[in-house]
This record gives sequence, C-alpha cells and structure tokens, in this order.
Amino acid sequence: MAPSAYVVPIVDSTSVFKLDIFKGKVLFCTGGGSGICRGMTEAMMRHGANAAIVGRKVDRLTQAAKELSQATGQECIPTQADVRFPAQLKEAVAKTIAKFGRIDYVICGAAGNFLVPISGMSENAFKTVMEIDTIGSFNTIKATLDHVRASKGAYIHVSATLHYTGTPFQAHVSAAKAGVDALSAVLAVEEGPNGVRSNVIAPGPIQGTEGMDRLGPKGEAANSRRNGYPSGRMGTVGDIGNATIFLFSDAAAYITGQVLPVDGGSMHLQSTF
Ligand code: HXC
Repeated sequence: MAPSAYVVPIVDSTSVFKLDIFKGKVLFCTGGGSGICRGMTEAMMRHGANAAIVGRKVDRLTQAAKELSQATGQECIPTQADVRFPAQLKEAVAKTIAKFGRIDYVICGAAGNFLVPISGMSENAFKTVMEIDTIGSFNTIKATLDHVRASKGAYIHVSATLHYTGTPFQAHVSAAKAGVDALSAVLAVEEGPNGVRSNVIAPGPIQGTEGMDRLGPKGEAANSRRNGYPSGRMGTVGDIGNATIFLFSDAAAYITGQVLPVDGGSMHLQSTF
C-alpha cells in the first residue's frame, strides 16, 4: 500500500475534555506501572482522578506513582500485587480504600506477552499468559466489584486486536484476550442493573511501549508497516488515554459490554494486495 497522504493528528485530551470531569473519583489500574496502562492512568489523573497503580515490580511502581503525581498534581499510590494471586489484590484494594475511601474506575490491564509458535510453546508458557491476562482480570473484578458497585462505577479491560485474525506466535495472548472480551461482556450484563458498566479497549500498534518495542516489527519491516497504516501513523499512548477518558465519562453512560478498537483502522487493512 502507498504511504498515506494524510496523517491523523495527535490530540491532547485537555483540548477536548474538561479538566475536572473525574474530580473526587478514584482509579484502580493493574499494569499501571508502565506502557499503555500508565498512560491511561495519566490521562485519568490529568482530568482530576486520584489513582492506585498495581504491579509486581515495586521500584518501577514507586517511581511511576511519583512521576504521575508530579505530572498531574493528583495523588497516585503504588500498590504491589501479582494479579495471579487474589490475596495480594485484596491487599492492594484495602490499601487503596484506606488511602482514598473509594474506587470508581478499574482498568484491568496487567498482561504478559512473548513471541513463540504453538509448536515451541510449553504448557506452562500458555498457562502463564492465561493466568495473568484472563484469570488476572477475573481476580481484579472479584477484588474490586463491591467498591465499584457502591460508586456506580465502571471497568475498562485492555485487550488487543490480534485475536480477530490468526496472528502467528500469539496463540496464548489471542486465547487470553478473547477470554477477556467475553468476561467483560458478561460483567456488563450481570452488573448493569447494579449501575456498573464494563467495556474493552483493544489497542492496535501503539508506539513507544515496552510491548511494541520488544515484540513489534523491526528495521525495514517496521518502516513498510508504518507506511501502510490507514491513519498514516502508529497509535500513541495518548490515543488510548483519550478513549479511556471517553469510556469512563458520563458521555459513555449508555455504552457497556462493548469492545472499542483504538487502532487507526489497522485491523481492517488487507495487506495481501
Ligand atoms: C517462550 C517463554 C518466554 C519466551 C516466558 N516463557 N518467556 N516461552 N518464549 N520469550 C515461558 C517460560 O519458559 C515458562 O515456561 C513460562 O513462560 C513462565 O515464564 P516465567 O518467566 O517463569 O514466568 P513469570 O516470571 O511469571 O513471567 C512471565 C511473563 C513474562 C510475565 C509472561 O515473560 C513477560 O511476558 N513479561 C513481559 C510483560 C509485558 O511486556 N507485557 C506487556 C504486553 S503488551 P516453562 O515451561 O519454561 O516453565 C502486549 C501488546 C501486544 O501484549 C503487542 C503486540 C506487538
């Protein structure tokens, strides 16, 4: 495909959304120490939310919480937990409630990923990603639901677009993210009557993240991919942040049980011609 004549602009959330729409609200975000989930947390904090970020690596979490607080003027606390262990998540939730008194929004974003064909993948490798992505999301829902019901809040699950087709070397992640999409849909219909919404953001190719740097195409392959993106560029963490703000805001009050791909149209691109 020829290079795109038009490049979609990068839009700052503060030029679109009010600065105080999440004032007094609290976000609980797994995987918030880095990458896309850190960016989603920053977007929510820029618009008034306080946050607890959850991850395994305490040094990275502590540093990220400090930087997020400095950048936004809101409060962010690090809460160490491995989403595979419900007791650790319960502790992280208790710490969040002790600090902020409530949880309004939850991002289930903790994820594992590496490239390996099915033929070379160990049973434990497959299981590990299922446990982090799918069971970890279930554990996060269980640990937070009472609080989200109390605040009539909402969930966003971070999925992917790779399971809509057969993406090589991603059997574990594809199966896990399909499970995440299904989990969110059930949560939406079961908890709608309790005032809780649940949606999925499915990011496409997002530049500058650890996942993309480690797993995405490199060199010439990366350049030719980039030229073919329908929107003329890769996505940014800010693009995912903008979608996050919208989906958590009251403007999305009638949107639940949905999957929102944020991929610049990439998943519809037929690259065989
Ligand atoms: C093959 C691998 C592997 C690899 C781990 N395993 N890495 N197999 N290739 N590169 C296998 C191990 O051999 C082991 O199986 C099993 O997986 C568990 O590995 P451990 O290292 O013991 O587990 P753990 O310490 O819990 O960590 C696992 C992990 C980590 C969290 C999945 O490997 C990981 O992926 N970290 C990166 C997290 C990350 O980048 N997340 C962002 C994803 S972004 P055996 O059989 O040996 O016991 C994203 C966006 C998509 O997904 C981007 C698309 C381009």
